[in-house]
Amino acid sequence: MKFYCGEDYKAMSRIAANIISAQIIMKPDCVLGLATGSSPEGTYAQLVEWYKKGDLDFSQVTSVNLDEYRGLSGDNDQSYRYFMNTHLFDHVNIDKSRTFVPNGLEPDSEKACREYDAVVEATGGVDLQLLGIGHNGHIGFNEPAKEFCKNTQCVDLTESTIEANKRFFEKEEDVPRQAYTMGIGTIMRAKKILLVASGEGKADIIAKAFTGPITPEVPASILQLHNDVTVVCDKAAMSKIK
Ligand code: F6R
Repeated sequence: MKFYCGEDYKAMSRIAANIISAQIIMKPDCVLGLATGSSPEGTYAQLVEWYKKGDLDFSQVTSVNLDEYRGLSGDNDQSYRYFMNTHLFDHVNIDKSRTFVPNGLEPDSEKACREYDAVVEATGGVDLQLLGIGHNGHIGFNEPAKEFCKNTQCVDLTESTIEANKRFFEKEEDVPRQAYTMGIGTIMRAKKILLVASGEGKADIIAKAFTGPITPEVPASILQLHNDVTVVCDKAAMSKIK
């Protein structure tokens, strides 16, 4: 496992964007696994800036996102599809027909999950998976549980996740209670993993996930078993790693 520490959020984002750029340059038709949330926002902004300068070409890239709220359409400004369009896809030359996000509007959760597994499988496998981390150690929306879930699943969001996500919604009641998320098994099959975290609020979980015991109670802890993980933090998030 490699750790990189940027001085602040901007520096962290630049390091992460450099790693993603290297992936795209080395393998222009790569499959990127993407995340939403505040952690990767700066990374996407940096990638867009480099694309605009002519340094990056997304034309052959395929992307698969980790998760989507159940019940939200891609037009809803709180959906993860909307987030990806506005933060990255609308600003670069990626072929949108090769950008995949779980179908939040599929009411049959079993169908939605199996279809998304098939989509990921059809890409041939994720080359680089970008991840954030929840305060409780969730990755994607794989919340603390008794066991690690292999495939795409429909999850009930925990109170702490609803609490953390309500900042993006007008009212707490508007935060969806369920989401479709790629499973831990799929995340672990990515060739490379890049996890980004910033701020003091993430310091405890970063230390717990990467230096504590491997347990489904801290889903991100399983990344200790992956052979190519890079963790990029700012100073505050890295502060409790000894
Ligand atoms: C989002 C996702 C989540 C977030 C996590 C951290 O696609 O998969 O696991 O990465 O909730 O969110 P932020 O970055 O907003 O702190």
